[in-house]
Formats: sequence, structure tokens, C-alpha cells
Amino acid sequence: MSSSLAGRRVLVTGAAGRIGSVTTRHLTELGALVTALSITEDPELKADRVVIGDTRSEDDVAAALAEVDLVVHLAALPHPSAGTPYDVYSTNVVSTFNVLAQAGALGVKRAVVASSINAYGVPFNPHDIRPAYYPLDEKIPTDVADWYSLSKQNDENTCRMAWRRWGIDVVSFRFPHVNSPDVLERQARGFREDPAPGVREAWSYLDTRDAAYAIELGLTASLSGAHTFFVAAGTTNAPYETEALLDAFAPGVPRLRRFVGREVPIDLTAARTVLGFRAQHELDLPTDRLES
Ligand SMILES: NC(=O)c1ccc[n+]([C@@H]2O[C@H](COP(=O)([O-])OP(=O)(O)OC[C@H]3O[C@@H](n4cnc5c(N)ncnc54)[C@H](O)[C@@H]3O)[C@@H](O)[C@H]2O)c1
Repeated sequence: MSSSLAGRRVLVTGAAGRIGSVTTRHLTELGALVTALSITEDPELKADRVVIGDTRSEDDVAAALAEVDLVVHLAALPHPSAGTPYDVYSTNVVSTFNVLAQAGALGVKRAVVASSINAYGVPFNPHDIRPAYYPLDEKIPTDVADWYSLSKQNDENTCRMAWRRWGIDVVSFRFPHVNSPDVLERQARGFREDPAPGVREAWSYLDTRDAAYAIELGLTASLSGAHTFFVAAGTTNAPYETEALLDAFAPGVPRLRRFVGREVPIDLTAARTVLGFRAQHELDLPTDRLES
């Protein structure tokens, strides 16, 4: 069946990045005409149109938006230590504002934006804290104490503002750790030795190909408004039962329901019901007994 994206022009920012490169290829395979915005020349980057530019620049973004129907905004400094605090925060919030404000004013109908699981603040929080409850969901209380997480929280507000102001529909994704299977398998081996570091991100992960698939659904799903979704694989990347992990590493945190096997303790209902998203690429891990 042909995709509704066939023949449509889609701007992908951060197109040479980890998620951007796989997304650019995926959308191209669906027949979309991709305009790839990249801050550096990259011979590997294949798209219908390549624009070298900075998402903070009004002129560069205006050039990249020429004849664009839909936007996928991924460009960012994706970690608190990816630059100085000033650079990380300002790059991310200015880029998202610039891209959405210009797209909205031009009458672009839909944008998909990379938020992050870090928008709830707990994973990078320097204090010894835990989530307010499991499963994590889009309404979980936030506790932000770093500039990257703050930038993503701010980006979600920018998405809502852009929709309210210009009527551009915006889907933002709270991605967990997104990576290729080899890196995710390496992380799983680390969690076999010591699962403790995964507790605040609920041991969640997503294969990069599934991130691209979620972005496709974000561009094509029937919806209107500005919506934020958690997306993740349905299972954790720790080879232990989720209930045993939570007993060991988050014993005082309320559980709003029980988890079956290695079920990820994130509520994926909204992405499943509104977008029809289910991860296609999950790690095949054995489930071991967690020694206490
Ligand atoms: N990979 C993950 O685990 C993960 C998890 C949650 C959220 N995210 C978010 O997903 C998005 C993509 O992440 P990624 O993992 O592909 O990161 P990445 O660093 O591989 O890609 C980001 C791209 O943005 C580009 N970029 C940075 N500043 C720019 C600017 N001013 N102008 C133009 N381009 C600029 C970079 O050069 C890079 O190519 C980011 O918004 C990130 O915060 C990623």
C-alpha cells in the first residue's frame, strides 16, 4: 500500500544525526521528498534536497522550509554534556522555536518534534530521587535539575504554543535511549551486571528504526492539536522481570499496576491508541532471576 507521504515534501532537521539519518532514509523509502537540513556536510546524507545550515538561523531555516508540507525537527545537542549549559539550552530551545514558528507562520500542517524521556527531569537529576510512580506516563510530575531536560520540557511548551498560535498540529515524542541493536545489546549486558543505572529511565529503549517508524506515524496519524507521547519498546533492556527490578531498585515508589515479565514500566497506551505505534524491533533477551 502506498504511503500518504509519497510525493510530499518533508523537512528533516538534524538529518545527519543518529535518528535523523535513519528517518531520512525511511521517509525517502516511503516516497517522501526529503529536504535534509544538516549543520555540516556529510557525504553519507542522501536526500532529495540537502541544505547546510543552522537551525538557530532564521535565514537557514527559511531556506530549508521552501515548499515544505511537513516538518520533522530532530536537530539538538542531545545531552547535558554535549556543550556548555548555555549552548545546550539555547541551541535546543531557539532551534525548536525558530523551526516551529516559521513552519507555523507559513501554514505547514504538521510537525513531529523530538522531545525526550528527560523532559520529566528525573534521569539527569543529580539528587538521589525516583519517579513519582510507575508506569511513567505523559502526566508524571517533573523534577528538572539540568539544562538539557529543561530544554526538552520547554520544547514541549513551544509545540503547544505553535499549535495554539498557528494551528500547526505537533506530535512530540518522549524518546527513551534510541540506538542501534548492537549498542542496545551492549547496554543490556551492562544491566545484567548492574541494573541500578536504568531505574530512572525505567530500563527503556527504542531501536532507531522504530524511532523512524514512530515519526512516520506522527506525520500521518489522524489527529489535530499538540500532543506528547512516550514511545519505547514494550520490553526493558534488562534481562530480569520488571517487578523484581522495581522491588530491588525502587521499593518505595507506588506502582499503579503490575508488570508482566520484562514489560517496560512506561504507559504506552496513548501512542498505541492514537498513533497505532508498537515497536517492531525488540531485543531478544533471556529472563534471569535477579539475585538480591
Ligand atoms: N538518541 C537518543 O537516545 C535520544 C533520546 C531522547 C531524545 N533524543 C532527541 O532526538 C533528537 C535526535 O537525537 P540523535 O540521537 O539523533 O542526536 P544526534 O546528535 O545524533 O543528532 C542531532 C543532530 O542535530 C545536529 N545539530 C545540532 N545543533 C544543530 C544546529 N544548531 N543546527 C543544525 N543542526 C544541528 C547535529 O549536528 C546532529 O547531526 C534530539 O533532539 C535528541 O535530543 C534522542
